[in-house]
Amino acid sequence: MSEEIVVIPGDGIGQEVVPAAVEVLEAVGDFDFVEADAGDHVKAETGEALPDETYELVADADATLFGAAGETAADVILPLRTAVDSFVNVRPAKAYPGVDALRPETDLVFLRENTEGVYAGHEDRLSDDLSTLTRVVTTSASERLAEFACDYVGGEGGHFQVAHKANVMRETDGRFLDAVVETAEKNGVETDAVLMDAFATHVCLDPTQFDTVVCPNLAGDVLSDLAAGLVGGLGLLPSANIGPDNALFEPVHGTAPDIAGEGIANPAATILSAAMLLDHLGYDEEAERVNSAVEAVLADGPRTPDLGGDASTEDVTAAVLEHL
Ligand code: NAI
Ligand code: MG
Repeated sequence: MSEEIVVIPGDGIGQEVVPAAVEVLEAVGDFDFVEADAGDHVKAETGEALPDETYELVADADATLFGAAGETAADVILPLRTAVDSFVNVRPAKAYPGVDALRPETDLVFLRENTEGVYAGHEDRLSDDLSTLTRVVTTSASERLAEFACDYVGGEGGHFQVAHKANVMRETDGRFLDAVVETAEKNGVETDAVLMDAFATHVCLDPTQFDTVVCPNLAGDVLSDLAAGLVGGLGLLPSANIGPDNALFEPVHGTAPDIAGEGIANPAATILSAAMLLDHLGYDEEAERVNSAVEAVLADGPRTPDLGGDASTEDVTAAVLEHL
């Protein structure tokens, strides 16, 4: 039986780059694609950015490929991450030959806690002068993330870094750090604890010191965007929201209203997200083929204008298909 993949192009360039990635998936596998809708244009028509039907489809599918939503991004993507019970956000930041990067030697992956921390939503306005936020950290979510990280680095003998600020947030990050390190020890995986602020400096000066970085939610959000700056270009960064039973894959970029509709969006981030989807579903060889094809096209062209070229989304997609 072929896997069911829900496809949500969303708004703006999502409508251009998601079909490109679907073409690539069709070229390497036999999947049941189910198209679903969400985003600003749906809200304009119905008053709701995320139809219940889309939520249900995502919750039931084997995997989802999502493009981007505009102003309604938070109303769409946050519930969709919940729909797959995503406890980890996987964000590779890798510089590619042929692409201008501040740090061309960068090749690392962030494994970001995706359910709690300061994004758990316990914010209050207590007076005209005072607002507060409660930071949520559980041992269970930290352990679940660490178990994933241990698998990700290949189990026993593997190694990853943990970014934290347990010297200041002793209770919350202290709990996070202890749970992650203890879980790693149980799995025979080595860890290096790094203060997250110092990490920001070190990763800029020498990103080769790091390979797999496990982070609390907010730190992972900020530090992975920082690393994105090192590798040059939002059009290149894929991501995965992994849950226990299914997962949702999306480029890091948004709807790019400045170029939407022109047919010049870089499809690489979404095609690389599709490669992560293949890998997640166990199609390792197909994922590798797609990654290599994208790498070859980034190195030799054609390139879209964001990378200094003059090719269209279609040209780049056709070149990737050819390299497959
Ligand atoms: P953006 O990522 O859409 O665009 C930032 C800049 O990068 C623009 O100049 C854009 O042209 C360029 N860019 C992004 N992706 C590209 C690609 N594939 N090819 C070539 N150039 C690309 O971020 P921005 O401008 O902050 O947000 C625009 C809209 O997208 C907003 O409404 C925001 O809410 C939404 N957004 C949605 C996200 C999501 O659905 N996950 C994530 C980020 C933003
Ligand atoms: Mg962010």
